[in-house]
Formats: sequence, C-alpha cells, structure tokens
Amino acid sequence: MPLPDPLPTPASPQTEASAPLTDPSLIPRGRKKGKTGPQALRRLEQLLPMLELPVAADRGALLAQWGTDASTARLFLEVGFGNGHTLATLAARHPQDRFIGVEVFLGGVASLLLRIQQEGLVNIRIATQGIHAILAERIPPASLDRVLIHFPDPWPKRSHHKRRLIQTPFLHLLASRMTPSAQLSLATDWSHYAQWMLALLEGDEHFVNLGQPGQFAPEPPDWVETRFQRKAQAEGRPVFHLLYGLADPGK
Ligand SMILES: C[S@@+](CC[C@H](N)C(=O)[O-])C[C@H]1O[C@@H](n2cnc3c(N)ncnc32)[C@H](O)[C@@H]1O
Repeated sequence: MPLPDPLPTPASPQTEASAPLTDPSLIPRGRKKGKTGPQALRRLEQLLPMLELPVAADRGALLAQWGTDASTARLFLEVGFGNGHTLATLAARHPQDRFIGVEVFLGGVASLLLRIQQEGLVNIRIATQGIHAILAERIPPASLDRVLIHFPDPWPKRSHHKRRLIQTPFLHLLASRMTPSAQLSLATDWSHYAQWMLALLEGDEHFVNLGQPGQFAPEPPDWVETRFQRKAQAEGRPVFHLLYGLADPGK
C-alpha cells in the first residue's frame, strides 16, 4: 500500500506553549520497549518516520498539510493507544477524518504500524513521545475535535496515584488543545480511577459533563471493544465511561 510521502521534521517548536517541559513528573518513565522483535523494530525504523505529525501553527494549517479541509474533517487524538486497535478501527471507519495516536510503548506502536500497512490506512499519524510534550509542543491550540483516553494505566497503589495521567494540569493543557465543540471520551475498568476522573472533571471549570452532571456516561456509539474491556468483563469488572466537552467560557 502507498504510505504517505515523508513529512518534514519540525524546524522549530511552535505555539505559545512550546517551552521545554521541565517538570520531571510530566515526562513518562522511559520509553517502553517491551518485547520488540526484529521485524517490529524494522517496521518502527522504516515506517515511523513517514508518519510524523505535520508541523503547523493552527488547526487549519495542520489539516491542510495533511491533505484535507478543516471545515469538513475532524481531528482525533488517542492518548495511550496500546496496540492501536481502536485507532485503526476508527480511522478505517472514518476515512475523511484525521487521527493522531500517541503511545510510548514501542511494541504497541509496531502493532499499529503493521495494521496501517496491511489495511492501507493513510489518515493516521503517530507520536512516541509522552503525551504532555506532544500536547505542549506539537498540537496547535483549539485543534482537537475528539480526544480518546481509554484504559489509562490505573496506578492502583495510593503512593502511585501521582503517576496517574488524569491530573488537573494535564486536563488544562488538554482543554487548551480542544476546539469549543470537542468531546473528551474516557474509560476505565478501575472503579477508584473512575471516581477520581469523575471528581476531577466535575470540579473543573474548563469541562462540562455531556450527559448528566455527576454521572458516568453510557458506552459511546462509536465504541470499539478492546482487549482491556474483554479482560475486565471476564474478571467481572464493569467499564466506566466519561464524556466531557469544554465549558462555555461566557457562562
Ligand atoms: C492500559 S494501556 C491501554 C491501551 C489502549 N488504550 C486500550 O484501550 O487498549 C495504557 C497505555 O497508555 C500508554 N501511556 C502511558 N503513559 C503515557 C504517556 N505519558 N503518553 C503516551 N502514552 C502513555 C501506555 O504505554 C499503555 O500502552
């Protein structure tokens, strides 16, 4: 399948939030290699450079560089896509839209690359740095239409809660990258983390619950079942969904 032409690497950092990240708690704990065999490594070396995010100052320029029209295409972001099953499935379902996947686990990235190659998907770009750096340095303000964070690492021990992805500074950075009509979809099978996310989002003036205030959401219509969901179900744990938009700053 014809993969997209190589895209230019960033000439310089962009946007007002381009200062290097200095807070060590925002930098993921090392890029995770996992078990990455020689074929997967070759795919990473050969295909990943062709799937770099376009560099652009705003949403219109980003989508124009990506060969589409900002008035019709939606820009998705999936944070921590794992093996990429949701991202690839949605990208195949919605060829007119554009999908950014961010994942630090290179074995998972290699799985997604295989699927991109096998299915000829041309509307996905991949970043393997931590999501904080990508949001701050590579994603223009007010550009994301849909953000998916499904089954983020739960860090169940109390002493590890500070490692959880969903924290107020992260949510504020994310809010600055969402369009006014954007949707943020979260899911977890860890009830403590579900309550943690609900409490943070309900108490945050930047976000509004798109269903009932204070309540979890039903499974989204575009939901793609993943390995994590099947495992949770097999172990008798329900999946909690959350769906938020940006609060109207005028209210
Ligand atoms: C439990 S897995 C869920 C995978 C996938 N979303 C799914 O539903 O199958 C969480 C993923 O988030 C990734 N992750 C953790 N911290 C990250 C970060 N700061 N930036 C990007 N990805 C991250 C991990 O590598 C892991 O693959």
